[in-house]
Amino acid sequence: MADDAFVPAATEWYHPSKDIVRHAVIKDYDAVYQEAMQDIEAFWAKRAKTLDWFRRWDKVLDASNAPFYKWFVGGKTNIVLNALDRHVKTWRRNKLAFIWEGENGDKVSMSYWRLWQEVNKFANVLRSMGVKKGDRVTIYMGRILELPIAMLACAKIGAPHSVVYGGFSEQALADRIEDAQSRLLITCDGAWLRGKIVPLKQVVDEAIHRSPVVDRVIVVKRTGQDINMEQGRDYWYHELMSLPIASTKAETEVMDSEDPLFILYTSGTTGKPKGILHTHGGYQVYTSTTLQWAFDLKDEDRWWCAADPGWITGHSYIVYAPLILGATSIIYEGAPNFPYPDRWWRIVEEYGVTILYTAPTAIRGLMRFGEAWPGRHDLSSLRLLGTVGEPINPEAWRWYHHVIGKDKCPVIDTWWQTETGGFMITPLPTVGLKPGSATRPFPGIKVDVVDDDGNSCAAGEEGNLVIQGPWPAMLRTVYKDDQRFLNQYWTRYSKQGWYLTGDSARKDADGYFWIIGRNDDVIKVSGYRLGTAEVESGLVSHPAVAESAVIAVPDEVKGSVIYAYCILRAGFSGSLALSDELKAHIRHEVGPIAVPEKIEFVPNLPKTRSGKIMRRVLKARAQGLPEGDISTLEE
Ligand code: PRX
Repeated sequence: MADDAFVPAATEWYHPSKDIVRHAVIKDYDAVYQEAMQDIEAFWAKRAKTLDWFRRWDKVLDASNAPFYKWFVGGKTNIVLNALDRHVKTWRRNKLAFIWEGENGDKVSMSYWRLWQEVNKFANVLRSMGVKKGDRVTIYMGRILELPIAMLACAKIGAPHSVVYGGFSEQALADRIEDAQSRLLITCDGAWLRGKIVPLKQVVDEAIHRSPVVDRVIVVKRTGQDINMEQGRDYWYHELMSLPIASTKAETEVMDSEDPLFILYTSGTTGKPKGILHTHGGYQVYTSTTLQWAFDLKDEDRWWCAADPGWITGHSYIVYAPLILGATSIIYEGAPNFPYPDRWWRIVEEYGVTILYTAPTAIRGLMRFGEAWPGRHDLSSLRLLGTVGEPINPEAWRWYHHVIGKDKCPVIDTWWQTETGGFMITPLPTVGLKPGSATRPFPGIKVDVVDDDGNSCAAGEEGNLVIQGPWPAMLRTVYKDDQRFLNQYWTRYSKQGWYLTGDSARKDADGYFWIIGRNDDVIKVSGYRLGTAEVESGLVSHPAVAESAVIAVPDEVKGSVIYAYCILRAGFSGSLALSDELKAHIRHEVGPIAVPEKIEFVPNLPKTRSGKIMRRVLKARAQGLPEGDISTLEE
């Protein structure tokens, strides 16, 4: 990444046009921010009243057992009540909910009415297979419409879903099945990516072999190649959906505000992934408000969040929030540059996309192909652009703004996490922008950059980014592991009661926030979150590797790439062939996104006297930088 990436460019401002301001639902950020901070509970209650509830809450916020906060206590709802049920009673019944395009050119448009029916049918199928409120269902699929259908059907019957991103492989999937104890899994035969089939069902078979908790598998036919179907365990989706049991009417389960909606596993500092738990009530209020205000989403918009539904961005801003707002969304199955680097721009033109939301890595990747590719298409429908997942370097920001947005579309740089459920630091369209800064916190959110003692850092000084108060879409816990929830997020600043984000950041003199990156053992590769420990345990599961250490090294396109250092067991020696074998092993065990760019065989690793690997030293060495303070180094 360019060196200028994180330096606040205080003089470079971009202000919204009159059109953007006229259109914007929130015109005065400062006024709304102040109003929210004066009375957080009244502010969120007002937002919650825009949604449907079976029964309204008795209390907006219960902080009596902090940090186990509760929101909209006593309220009865279901996110599907707001995402689907209420729309089919209005004119939106015939509005398109999703416009889907397969990588191979297949197309499906689905109205709210059709989507509601498909979800009802599948909810009935799940119920008929014995899935009850509270049962966890694992979903491992490509980017097809049956993915949101499956998620919504689970939510409708009150069964928390655990979606595992299709870029993970056997062991990663097996670990997540095991932790969630899912007896039912929904998948597809394969997914199209860069013209090839990703054999998802094959991965599922192996993962179930390793975690034999699953006793029912529902398989969507997408690619149509021959696959193994185990009798008595595996069922075709289309066959189940044509049974009489799959009626188009289904009761929406009445859920408590605080009942679990989903578990989403994310990488932390140990090898074991953390099951981040979100609930029905607060999450629906927060995600819909943030989407409506930050992206000024209106009925006439064509919203395209180009993330994968398998990550939090897709959960919140492809599936739940856009549907709650009654929006029309685009979903595209495949790679941005397949078959040519203008695939995305063709989609923008063809469907008249008005808002595009993607990640810096995708922008940098497409930027490499030059201006001629977007130049072939009419991108004038675009009104707003968005980015998420990692810091955007100003060069990519300017390219996005100028080449894609024709200097008229504000770039909404949204900082948030799986844990936060929705945007935390983000511009609203009327806020002045500085390339590379996510600007200021969303109304109702208080954040700061602090030192290790909790003192607020001066402008320009680097420190820990903390969130200084509860918000409705905050994670409720780490699934089955309250202690880890406390240790990870709430112990560092327990005196103050602040949430530790794990990111380091700076504030500038205008109060704008500049995210620097993770300051724990979490790596961002192409915007995807991975734990060093996950990759390391993948490496040591190979018979040749005794010990390993993994670090992130800056990369122009991917943000960062993985370098792995391995100590081999006696009897093995390092070679190019072994390095390739280890890469293949990681691809198979953890997934393609975790494959190291480089593997180096070393006789030992830099460790502290207490035996902790000093990744900082490896990182400095890899980049040819000074190693800093190495007084605690063992040798
Ligand atoms: O380091 C921050 C980075 O992504 C982390 C959260 O990753 P994940 O839970 O996978 O969620 C990604 C999508 C919300 C954060 O701790 N991050 C996310 N958005 C930004 C960002 N860094 C800088 N700027 C952003 N806009």
